[in-house]
Amino acid sequence: MRYEDYIQLDYSPSKNDVIVEFLVEPSKNAGAVAAESSIGTWTEVKTFKRNLKKLAAKVFEVRGNKVKIAYPSELFEPGNMSQILSSIAGNIFGMKAVKNLRLEDVHFPKKLERSFPGPRFGISGVRRLLKVRGRPLLGSIIKPKLGLGPKEHAEVAYETWLGGCDIIKDDENLTDQRFNPFEERVVRTLEARDKAEEETGERKVYMPNVTAPFEEMIRRIEFVKEHGGRYVMIDVITSGFSALQSVRDMDFGLVIHAHRAMHAAFTRNKKHGMSMLALAKCLRLVGVDQLHVGTGVGKMEGEKEEVKEIAEALREKKVVKPVFPVASGGLHPGLVPSLMKIFGKDVIIQAGGGIHGHPKGSLSGARAMRQAIEAVMKGISLKKYAKAHQELGEALNYFP
Ligand code: 3PG
Ligand code: 3PG
Ligand code: MG
Repeated sequence: MRYEDYIQLDYSPSKNDVIVEFLVEPSKNAGAVAAESSIGTWTEVKTFKRNLKKLAAKVFEVRGNKVKIAYPSELFEPGNMSQILSSIAGNIFGMKAVKNLRLEDVHFPKKLERSFPGPRFGISGVRRLLKVRGRPLLGSIIKPKLGLGPKEHAEVAYETWLGGCDIIKDDENLTDQRFNPFEERVVRTLEARDKAEEETGERKVYMPNVTAPFEEMIRRIEFVKEHGGRYVMIDVITSGFSALQSVRDMDFGLVIHAHRAMHAAFTRNKKHGMSMLALAKCLRLVGVDQLHVGTGVGKMEGEKEEVKEIAEALREKKVVKPVFPVASGGLHPGLVPSLMKIFGKDVIIQAGGGIHGHPKGSLSGARAMRQAIEAVMKGISLKKYAKAHQELGEALNYFP
């Protein structure tokens, strides 16, 4: 088959096809994309047999640069996300035949979806664990992101929990450095969690970052479990799909919080790469329970509409459980109303600088964030709520 033979505009996809939406520039070369991501190469080969034709991906729609390709599901190994991405998001991005290529969206057939476990906990499991219903969960990242020792880390965590956070997490680049060894940090922070639970009567959780080479990551996860942890956090892109799938399949009974550090290297360019939406759909199948999706209002890129669409894709009803969207990056109390307009209440709102940067410190910072959530839940403006809630008032005056 030649590249152009992969364009079959009269084809109507079957319910077992994987459908991928691309932006292809120039779109006349869409056949090359379908070929290279399924069974083809740059020239015809003598080893090709006629009956292989049915395995070819088909370009079945072209509208301007928007191209839809249908892939027979036989091309994919069930339950192997690395293989799936090596096909639909593999060599094609580097082909000279395309100036730009972006994988915008992907639709998996039910049968392929069922070959993945999806989240163990998902939104309902996390809510059950935390015993929080009806409002967004509130989390904080300990700041400065690197540099504190384990004792200070646990102290800041304790204050922040006391102020009203449900969740404390490590930052994406904190793992096991000399100034803050993993094991000591986990032990001390979990002790602080127990104390905070006792004092507040609320459920509190800590998400230690276990990102490391695979065997070490497993050792760290086991350590967290042995010490009474309920969660782990993984930098899913830098760790890779294979490691993540193995962690999920080993089923430690811990919630998996997915940080997406590095995603923007390939999701940010609107003409080339892969959308965060498609990435989020893949991570949901693999089985993360919580995933950073952007904020629409904070310090990181990502338009409101895009962020909303991703959150909805994570929560939509499917054979696998819904994933909790996480909004994190540059957030502070003044942004909570617009955030909740985008996300609704099924969201985890996280603030690092927006809590530990409060003029009166972390405890007041956490109170102010919690007050902002309360105000929105009660339908009261932040300005009005701040009259009787000092910490919120201080935050509103302080953060731009
Ligand atoms: C995160 O890892 O989610 C963050 O570090 C957010 O930090 P910030 O609230 O200070 O931007
Ligand atoms: C940060 O470290 O500032 C954030 O984690 C960025 O978060 P995002 O991946 O949700 O944009
Ligand atoms: Mg961070």
